[in-house]
Amino acid sequence: MATAAQHIPVAPADIANTVIDPKAYAEWDSLLDTFEMLRNDMPVVRIENDELHDPFWLVTRYDDVMRISKDNKTFLNNPRGVVFGIKAGDAMIREITGGSPHLVNSLVALDAPIHPKYRRLTQEWFMPKNLKQMEAEIGELAVKTVDRLLAAGGEGDFVPLVSAPYPLHVVMQILGVPEEDEQRMLFLTQQMFGGQDEDLSKSGMADMSPEQITQLVVGAVADFEAYFAKLTEEKRANPTDDVASVIANARVDGEYLSDRDMAGYYIIVASAGHDTTSASTAGAMMALAKDPEQFARLKADRDLLPGIVEEAIRWTSPVQHFMRTAAEDVEVGGQKIAKGDWLMINYVSANHDERVFENPRQFDASRSPNRHLAFGAGAHQCLGLHLARLEMRILFNELLDRIETVELAGEPKRANSSFVGGLKTLPLRFSAS
Ligand code: HEM
Repeated sequence: MATAAQHIPVAPADIANTVIDPKAYAEWDSLLDTFEMLRNDMPVVRIENDELHDPFWLVTRYDDVMRISKDNKTFLNNPRGVVFGIKAGDAMIREITGGSPHLVNSLVALDAPIHPKYRRLTQEWFMPKNLKQMEAEIGELAVKTVDRLLAAGGEGDFVPLVSAPYPLHVVMQILGVPEEDEQRMLFLTQQMFGGQDEDLSKSGMADMSPEQITQLVVGAVADFEAYFAKLTEEKRANPTDDVASVIANARVDGEYLSDRDMAGYYIIVASAGHDTTSASTAGAMMALAKDPEQFARLKADRDLLPGIVEEAIRWTSPVQHFMRTAAEDVEVGGQKIAKGDWLMINYVSANHDERVFENPRQFDASRSPNRHLAFGAGAHQCLGLHLARLEMRILFNELLDRIETVELAGEPKRANSSFVGGLKTLPLRFSAS
C-alpha cells in the first residue's frame, strides 16, 4: 500500500467517477477532455472513489504507459486482476477459480516464466508470413460481408451489418468453429464476461442475484471447456492449418495442455479478436463517412490503406485499459508506487498524448510515424495485431471497390464500456459503385 509520508495526488470525485463509470466512455469528447487534464496536471493519480472499487493508480501519459508495458518484471499481470471492475465481481471470480483473479487461464493471466512458454506456441502462427495462407479465406468473408451491406439497399447500420459479424467470422474460422456454432460461442462469451452496455449484453444478467450470476458463469466456462475438448480431439486426429490445430497439438514441457489451459487459449483468441477489430473497423468507417474527400482519395489510391488502418486503431483505441500490479516499490512519472499497488495503464489517454501525437483528436491517415499503443507493448503486446490489420485492409479494399459514396444517416453511438469499447451503432447512407 502507498505510505502516508509521501504526497499522494488523489483525483477529485468527479474525475474518479468519469474514469470508473462505463457510461463516461460513451461520451468520447468529454472523456478525452478529462484525460487531457489528467496528463497535464496529474499524470499519475490515485483513484479512490468509493467502497465498491479497489483504489488504483491511473497512468495517462504515453511514456509512462509505454514504460510500464515494457517492464514485465516490475509490473505484473498478477496477483490482482488485469481488467478493472467492482470488488464483488473480483470476489466472485476468485470464488469460482479458487483464488485466481482471472476467470480463464489465458495469456493475459500469465506472467514469466510460464507466459513466454504459452505465447511461443502460437506466436509463429500469428506472424504475417503464416497469415498469408488465410488471405483468400478472409477475402471470401469480406465479400460476403459487403454483399450483406449492399443488400440493405442504400441505408443501414454498419455495426450489425458489417463491423460486428465480420471479425467474429474471422476468429471463428481460425479456431475451426463451424458457422452454425458461432452464435453459441458468442453467447457463451457474453455470459462469461457479462457486459457493461445493456443494449449489447444479451446475457440477461441485469436482474440476477450474485449467486445466479456465479452459476451462469461457471456453467458457461464448463460449456466452453467441453466444446473445445471435443474440438481438440478432432484436431488431434485430423490437424488442419488453423490455430486450433496448433493449440490442440501443442506441448509445454513435453505435455499436452490441460483442458482448462486449452480452453483459456481458445477463449482469449475468440474474445480478444472480435469486439476489438469490430470497434476499429466501425471507427474507420465513421471517419470516412464524415470526410468524403478522404474517402475519394482512398478509393483512388489504395497505398493509403495501411495508414488509414493504423490511424483508425490509434484513434479508436478499442482496448481502453489494462491493469498491472507492482512487484516492488517503484517510481512512475515521479510518483512513488508501493509494492502490491494496482495500476491502470490507459491506452485511450496514451494514444491522445499531445507530447507524442500532433492534433491527437484529428483522424489523420497520413500520420507518420504513428507509434500508437493501442496494441500495448512488451511481453503481452497483442498477439493478433497483424491479423487485425490484415482483416481491416482486406475488408476496406472490398468496401472501397464496391461503394461509391458514403455518409452518416444518423447519430453514431458508443457503447458504455470502460474496457473494450467503441461504436455500437453507425447509421450510414451509401451508394454502390
Ligand atoms: C484492433 C484490434 C485489436 C486491438 C486494439 C487489440 C489490443 C490488445 C491489447 C491492448 C492487448 C494487451 C497488450 C498488453 O498488455 O501490452 C492485447 C492482447 C492480446 N490480443 Fe489483441 N487486440 C486486437 C485484436 C486482436 C485479434 C484479432 C486477436 C486474435 C485473434 C487478438 C489476440 C490477443 C491476445 C491473444 C492477447 C494476449 C497476449 C498476451 O497476453 O501475451 N487481438 N490486444
